[in-house]
Amino acid sequence: MRLSLALPLAAIALSSLASAAQVAQTPPMGWNSWNYFAERVDDKGVRAAADQIVSTGMRDAGYIYVNIDDTWEGERDASGVLHTNPKFPDMKALADYVHSKGLKIGIYSSPGPKTCAGYAGSLGHEEQDAKMYAEWGIDYLKYDLCSFIPEVMEKQAPHDEAGQMRLMHAAYDKMGKALKATGRPIVYSLCQYGWDSPWEWAPALGGNAWRTTGDIEAKWQSVYDLLSQQAGLASYAGPGHWNDPDMLEVGNGELTLAENRAHFSMWAMVAAPLLAGNDLTQMKPEVKAILTNRDVIAIDQDSLGKQAERTYADGEVEVWTRHLSGGALAVAVLNVGSDRVATHPFHLSLAKLGLHGVQKGKDLWTGKNIELADNMPIELGNHDVLLVRIAQPK
Ligand code: GLA
Repeated sequence: MRLSLALPLAAIALSSLASAAQVAQTPPMGWNSWNYFAERVDDKGVRAAADQIVSTGMRDAGYIYVNIDDTWEGERDASGVLHTNPKFPDMKALADYVHSKGLKIGIYSSPGPKTCAGYAGSLGHEEQDAKMYAEWGIDYLKYDLCSFIPEVMEKQAPHDEAGQMRLMHAAYDKMGKALKATGRPIVYSLCQYGWDSPWEWAPALGGNAWRTTGDIEAKWQSVYDLLSQQAGLASYAGPGHWNDPDMLEVGNGELTLAENRAHFSMWAMVAAPLLAGNDLTQMKPEVKAILTNRDVIAIDQDSLGKQAERTYADGEVEVWTRHLSGGALAVAVLNVGSDRVATHPFHLSLAKLGLHGVQKGKDLWTGKNIELADNMPIELGNHDVLLVRIAQPK
């Protein structure tokens, strides 16, 4: 009798653990409010984003998470329960709405007493908050270090960097465990700006993604700086755990069309989470075409989960390669310079890529077949990219 009761319970516990472990088998895709809306995000805007993700075809292209960033938080009551502020009258109803569209919903907090924008963080309320997220139906948490630095790390371990890092790891561990204890599969995204090599310790704390850098800006220099910081990190990424060079700025700020294309291509090459950060209600067709390019998305979402490396650079042209499932190879040639014809002109070396003879591939931005030959000249506009998938590299 005891055994027959125990078995189904054990099976339920095991199955919820298994499903929790299965999130982010490919880099999470979706939308996040911060890069465009920042503190102007509200319930209406999140619903509009969810509607747009569906009507633009983004959902069908793989964008599933609708993530509310900072500034949703209100005050805690006498029992420590955190309430939303008036911009979000009913988080459960909002989650239900997002779910009704076939999408998932994400939220944001900090291990410190305050978030980066000065709203209530989770310090001392980790289990309580995690439970509430699960009750609301939350599927993704971005956990942003912020005030934990001055309020805990620097106060509790002044002049002791190793001690400060231990406090930080423990804080991320605490929330990782609290999320797991809810039994709900929730993507756990660490945001601590790449401090203390999170790629080395975040996966063990249940992290599904960890920021490798400071904040992105909608400027080419920022996009390129963050990309550069991904070189050398490929071995840390894989199904369930990803390097995160920050959310997309495609369609925002000063980026040209070529820069948007290059930004999206390179985020796909480095297996980054693809979280669009633009105003979807005003998305231009050419921006939508970039964000919904299925061939490029397929590079990001490749089941092998192997991140690209910068294979070589020649002057202002960089060549990155990514191994894909089925033995395929993605090659990105990126003109990071400001001249139209970088290095006057650039000639592709197949030998440096370990390839021999003419390679048949597909140019993922024109959609046309392309042949790559050794030493062939490639002309690229400034900050533009040639992205090729070679099905059978030789
Ligand atoms: C930090 C994060 C950003 C964003 C803001 C919100 O700067 O890195 O991505 O979440 O906080 O305040």
